[in-house]
Amino acid sequence: MSGNPYQNDRGNKDRSIANSAGQGTLVASPGTGERRDSGQKAFLIGDTMTGGYGNGPDILHDCTIAVNPGEIAVIVGPNGAGKSTAMKAVFGMLNVRSGSVRLDGEDITDLSPQERVRRGMGFVPQTSNIFTSMTVEENLEMGAFIRDDDISGTMAQVFDLFPILKEKRNQPAGELSGGQRQQVAVGRALMTQPKVLMLDEPTAGVSPIVMDELFDRIIEVARTGLPVLMVEQNARQALEIADQGYVLVQGRNAYTGTGKELLADPEVRKSFLGG
Ligand SMILES: Nc1ncnc2c1ncn2[C@@H]1O[C@H](COP(=O)(O)OP(=O)(O)O)[C@@H](O)[C@H]1O
Ligand SMILES: [Mg+2]
Repeated sequence: MSGNPYQNDRGNKDRSIANSAGQGTLVASPGTGERRDSGQKAFLIGDTMTGGYGNGPDILHDCTIAVNPGEIAVIVGPNGAGKSTAMKAVFGMLNVRSGSVRLDGEDITDLSPQERVRRGMGFVPQTSNIFTSMTVEENLEMGAFIRDDDISGTMAQVFDLFPILKEKRNQPAGELSGGQRQQVAVGRALMTQPKVLMLDEPTAGVSPIVMDELFDRIIEVARTGLPVLMVEQNARQALEIADQGYVLVQGRNAYTGTGKELLADPEVRKSFLGG
């Protein structure tokens, strides 16, 4: 497929999130259940990854997840499907036995997580994603650990995005509500000024209203041109904002398509969206 990348009616409600870097990106293959090609134009891709933890069995089997410039990609699937494992593999927290990870066209498969952060990856893991005994502001400062320049401007941007964090900046992060902690975690990742943001279940354990708010903030972040690769347990809501969606089952790609395609797919609906 060629030409206008927006000729498909993508799941994303607000196309303006795609910055100019998004022009000329791949368009998802039509239909569902069909794997995209190797995604060589993806900004970040874990490509046909196979691997597991330590010397344990393979958890991922030829699993591919990717995000294009300026887009939101969402990974959904049942508990234990390997969503977090796939994110950790992309971030370099486990070794893939085969497959590769590429960032902006460069093979980074052999880089450590810390090196990947230096290359522009921001990652918010599913658990232990903040320092609870440190204040909100200290958490954000820790997030900027790789920087030796002035971080005050970035911190001001994070406070603009999440005003409640400014109000609570001197409170221990552990005293905050679940939704506010997730804001700290996302803010911490933004402090490195990443080129791509990876979020593992950013709305876990929050109320539907807080979930909507967090989604709005994530869309706002993506609108600045920052590609977002996120795992979500709220599959329907997440696919509604997804340019690209991946359904993982038992460490494999089960369905791949635009958010809208996956939402419309009867099999996906029946098996993963409650009908
Ligand atoms: N640190 C770990 N060591 C060994 N096995 C793990 C570890 N973390 C997860 N697993 C296993 O990997 C599989 C996928 O888990 P996970 O990636 O957390 O799934 P999901 O995020 O989709 O719920 C599960 O069988 C889980 O038990
Ligand atoms: Mg998980």
